[in-house]
Amino acid sequence: VSDPFTPVHIGPLTLKNRIIKSATNEGMAPGGIPTKLLVEYHRRVAAGGAALTTVAYCAVEPDGRTFPDQICLDAESLPHLRVLTDAVHQAGGMACAQITHGGAFNFLPELSCGLPLSSSGGINPPGLMVGRLRKQAMTTADMDALARQFAEAAKQAEQVGFDAVEIHMGHGYLLSQFISPAINKRSDGWGGTAAKRVRFPVQVLKAVLDAVGDRLAVICKYSVTEGIKGGASLMDSQTVAQKLEAAGAHLLVLSAGLNVEAPWAIFGSPLPVEVTNTVKNPILRAGARLSQLKQPKTPFAHRYLRESALAIREAVAMPLAYLGGAQSLADIQQSLDDGFDTVAMARALLHDPELPNKYQAGTESESGCTACNECVVQMYTAGGTRCVLNSQNDVGLNQQPAVGANSL
Ligand SMILES: Cc1cc2nc3c(=O)[nH]c(=O)nc-3n(C[C@H](O)[C@H](O)[C@H](O)COP(=O)(O)O)c2cc1C
Repeated sequence: VSDPFTPVHIGPLTLKNRIIKSATNEGMAPGGIPTKLLVEYHRRVAAGGAALTTVAYCAVEPDGRTFPDQICLDAESLPHLRVLTDAVHQAGGMACAQITHGGAFNFLPELSCGLPLSSSGGINPPGLMVGRLRKQAMTTADMDALARQFAEAAKQAEQVGFDAVEIHMGHGYLLSQFISPAINKRSDGWGGTAAKRVRFPVQVLKAVLDAVGDRLAVICKYSVTEGIKGGASLMDSQTVAQKLEAAGAHLLVLSAGLNVEAPWAIFGSPLPVEVTNTVKNPILRAGARLSQLKQPKTPFAHRYLRESALAIREAVAMPLAYLGGAQSLADIQQSLDDGFDTVAMARALLHDPELPNKYQAGTESESGCTACNECVVQMYTAGGTRCVLNSQNDVGLNQQPAVGANSL
């Protein structure tokens, strides 16, 4: 049986073990300013034994946020992120910034670019929820500019002590809007075959590798299966992996699903109906509820993305992270036995960040996470994301910027 507690090389990094904390949008950056609670959250993950903890959704430019209360990698947030990376390092872990752009998936009250950017223009289904009905297709000049912004963001992440960046290419965000054949309807060199649809994400990856790739691990997360009719096929996703491998990515995190069209595919189980409470307009909220009710009632299964991940394992030789319902010690060991190099875990570590230490010490071998997905509903509450089986988060700590007088 493979031992999760052995080091592994990911690009220029050596992770102390095979466990990565996958991003869980923390809701701990009101107005975009990381709070003391965000620092404490990631410090606990590092102290709990995961080799690398991922700070969710760091936008590469203001229009790239999906909600106003998200981090943008800029002068405002950087000093606070330095406090976070210092705390993670002192606790014996490493920190990864998930760098991303929402494209047409955004709920910001105002955008400097007018219509939100995407692979293709036209009607924008996610925007219907906030009354932003249309999106615009990116020009090649837009793409060049955005690739530079990703590279700049990666450099800023490095400046404040991050050890890795994860380029978000999945779940329906901008780069996923290029990869998905259901969203990308371009007929030029950036649409059509899987190789063409991944061309812009590859441009972004290369720009980030050029900027930081000899010092930071550069990770790509994408949706191998999208969970909708007309979404990427497994063969498409193998091509995507091969292109990312050829461009030099250090690790692929193999996810699934699309935030709006198929969120349940991300989680491998239905989402609670209260998730739609974030939609402000009552009519649109009712519509969102109806579509929620249509979600398949597939019961949660450990390692629910194993089959699709194995298809990618067959297609490339590079390091891969298994993701999706890895909870128990056996899940981690079996994923390594399957040939994956690392295992990314979200909900199990949200429930108990101490799990890796407990698994290593042999005091526990199962997670208490029930995959109820109530954590998703907590995302934008005052105390931020939390497991509902645990006690409340400290709301006061989530009102204090990471840098600043400690009022405790
Ligand atoms: C509350 C919550 C928030 C999440 N936010 C993000 C996010 O910001 N970015 C991301 O890539 N994935 C996000 N995810 C998805 C997880 O990273 C992961 O892909 C998914 O939960 C499946 O892994 P698991 O079975 O180990 O939980 C989130 C998941 C949860 C539960």
